[in-house]
Amino acid sequence: MKVRKLGLLGVFILSGIFPAGYAQNNVEKRVEDLLSKMTLEEKIGQMNQVSFFAVDDKAIAQYSDDDMDTFLVRMGIAGGQGQKKPSEMTKAEKIALIKAEAAKMLDNNITQPIRDGKIGSLLNITDPVMVNRLQKAAMDESRLGIPMIIGRDVIHGFKTIFPIPLGQAASFNPQLVEDGARIAAIEARSTGVNWTFAPMLDISRDARWGRIAESLGEDPYLGGQLGAAMVRGFQGNGNLGDPNAIAACVKHFIGYGAAEGGRDYNSTNIPPHLMRNIYLPPFHNSIKAGAATLMTSFNDNDGIPASGNDYILKSILRDEWKFDGFVVSDWASIGEMIAHGFAKNDKQAAEISANAGLDMEMVTGAYLKYLPELIKEGKVAVATVDNAVRNILRIKFRMGLFENPYVDTNKASVMYADAHMKAARQAAVESAILLKNDNNTLPLAESKKIAIIGPMANAPHDQLGTWIFDGDKNHTVTPIGALKGDYKHIRYVYEPALDFSREKNTANFEKAKQAAASADVAVVFLGEESILSGEAHSLSNINLIGVQSELLKAVKSTGKPVVLVIMAGRPLTIERDLPFADAVLFNFHPGTMGGPAIFDLLFGKANPSGKLPATFVREVGQIPMYYNHNSTGRPAPEKVMGLDEIELEAGQTSLGNTSFYLDSGKDPLYPFGFGLSYSTFEYSGLTLSSASIPMNGTLTARVTLKNTSNVDGTEVAQLYVQDIVGSVVRPVRELKGFRRVALKAGESKIIEFKLSADDLSFYGRDLIKRTEAGDFNIWIGGDSNAPLKSTFSVTE
Ligand code: BGC
Repeated sequence: MKVRKLGLLGVFILSGIFPAGYAQNNVEKRVEDLLSKMTLEEKIGQMNQVSFFAVDDKAIAQYSDDDMDTFLVRMGIAGGQGQKKPSEMTKAEKIALIKAEAAKMLDNNITQPIRDGKIGSLLNITDPVMVNRLQKAAMDESRLGIPMIIGRDVIHGFKTIFPIPLGQAASFNPQLVEDGARIAAIEARSTGVNWTFAPMLDISRDARWGRIAESLGEDPYLGGQLGAAMVRGFQGNGNLGDPNAIAACVKHFIGYGAAEGGRDYNSTNIPPHLMRNIYLPPFHNSIKAGAATLMTSFNDNDGIPASGNDYILKSILRDEWKFDGFVVSDWASIGEMIAHGFAKNDKQAAEISANAGLDMEMVTGAYLKYLPELIKEGKVAVATVDNAVRNILRIKFRMGLFENPYVDTNKASVMYADAHMKAARQAAVESAILLKNDNNTLPLAESKKIAIIGPMANAPHDQLGTWIFDGDKNHTVTPIGALKGDYKHIRYVYEPALDFSREKNTANFEKAKQAAASADVAVVFLGEESILSGEAHSLSNINLIGVQSELLKAVKSTGKPVVLVIMAGRPLTIERDLPFADAVLFNFHPGTMGGPAIFDLLFGKANPSGKLPATFVREVGQIPMYYNHNSTGRPAPEKVMGLDEIELEAGQTSLGNTSFYLDSGKDPLYPFGFGLSYSTFEYSGLTLSSASIPMNGTLTARVTLKNTSNVDGTEVAQLYVQDIVGSVVRPVRELKGFRRVALKAGESKIIEFKLSADDLSFYGRDLIKRTEAGDFNIWIGGDSNAPLKSTFSVTE
């Protein structure tokens, strides 16, 4: 980050969709007209994206002394021969020099290259005045007046921060996810940002991987549904030309979430069937939903780095999926093919990526520098460049950027609008998962006196989660903030005991115990600081970090009921903590309005409805463990042998010949799809419209869902199938449908799922997608272990 902050350099690019009134063929004509007027240099300029980090007063105020000194030395303005050393300068002197240098760099590295047609896109610029100034350089001061597409990581909100994507996935609510993306787009676009690098659709089966936070979980169907919803939300529901829309960018293509051992950036080894059936579908679905752009990933899969993989970028993306938006590299991922040992230098890297079909290069600058000579040498064809530029211009036209490149700086601010905060609160409510609630500890009566304990009770920055470049912690409402606002009538004592999640000092544990002893109930807020998940922040131990488990135990030792509220960026291994909590509410970092949302749930103003979008393992050593694993030849029985059951000096046997761990069994702690409610739900009477359907047929599955409690609630009903025999081994279950169903106390409803034979298709032995005739199991229930089962068949 330091390098990025100080670098001021960068790379670029764009995206798009249909501006209202522009028919597709109109766009194509405009693309061709413009392309025919462009010089080769101007074309290559469109393929270049540069990062812009403003070195303005606000940025400088955030620089540490070290940052400033590094900047001055790196830029060659201090510490060199005949120059003063940073240590000999006053702070004011340093700031003046940095500002002067920044102005020079802005002109040399950004404004002039834009005028010269050498930059097609900027990323990381969010100051509307600067956006207009630089767009003007593109529109009025360059030869052809081509607007820039301006990118930013708007991942789970711009200013108003929603729960991290993994949390949003727990809502199993596409509309909520779409609305969140719409709000993020409105806020971002008001600054001039017109392209986001989201949604991230990487299937993630490993909670050690820090970027699981940014994912939609482990399931391709859920990821596909919610990814498409995000695309619709960002892109103005199909109207990319809407002045409040931003182009989406589905990332990271492909397989990035399968990094070996959860170590970020690591190699992946995803074989063809797994790739086709699990990793690719969310991308295909979001492209069908109109995603304007796509980003390649950092990893190599089976030895081929994604940014140089013509098979995925051409054969799959273009030939099979007919994607006509543009492809951008990840940050410097073209240049990083040198470190991979896949290219010997930037020039060869540019050749490989251009020929693989990668249209726009983010920050390395290798296209700009080397494509002209690569073309002269015949190593890259002019037609290849033309195609890339067509893809980029197509999106710029569809976005209406030529007509509408500027930001209206006179418009009233839309940031943190009431409606946005309300939506963020609702999103946080629906994203929380109730994992345990012994003796109906929750909801709490508002008359109770509460001890608020733990480092996450008042962590305005950390509760926002990873990837919040623009979110401002001063707007965060923490649980303590909520107790001073909407919940100010609640009587409470507050003893954080730890200042932050990693803190190891137990000196205040006694105070925490006293606080708990003085109250009716203790609510302990534990979890992870936001910096412990996200890009390049993987962990090999995913227990509650530091001495938090000890704090929980200390509080429990008072004998008071304990509610554990977790805010984290990933699933954690909390089995050892469960005995010390009567109730557990798990929140993936819940965003700006996390505090009030959590109290809405704790006090029963809202009823938990979130479901796990990823398996919670008992031990880190169980990873990878996910619900939709392939059927094995020796599946574990219901009860498996434990370590203590093995006789001393037992002879070598295969202990029952099935697949499980001696020490942690066969099951995770909580399965995918799991989540409790204050209501109880009962599923019964699963019926199918027919015992068999033909290849073009549709099956209707019906079930009675009853709220058997005296509390209104919402249940996420889930439909799973198993293709019992396939030309390749099939998963034990696959999610094929879900539905949020609101039920009044005591109410029952018959709910219906439609399943077409096509929904059962997969890439079989010959790697062609089709439905295979045969028998299927079907389950409907509240999680991926749902017992209510029936069977049907598909006939030729
Ligand atoms: C990340 C991308 C992100 C890009 C631009 C990279 O490090 O992998 O997901 O969009 O930076 O900030």
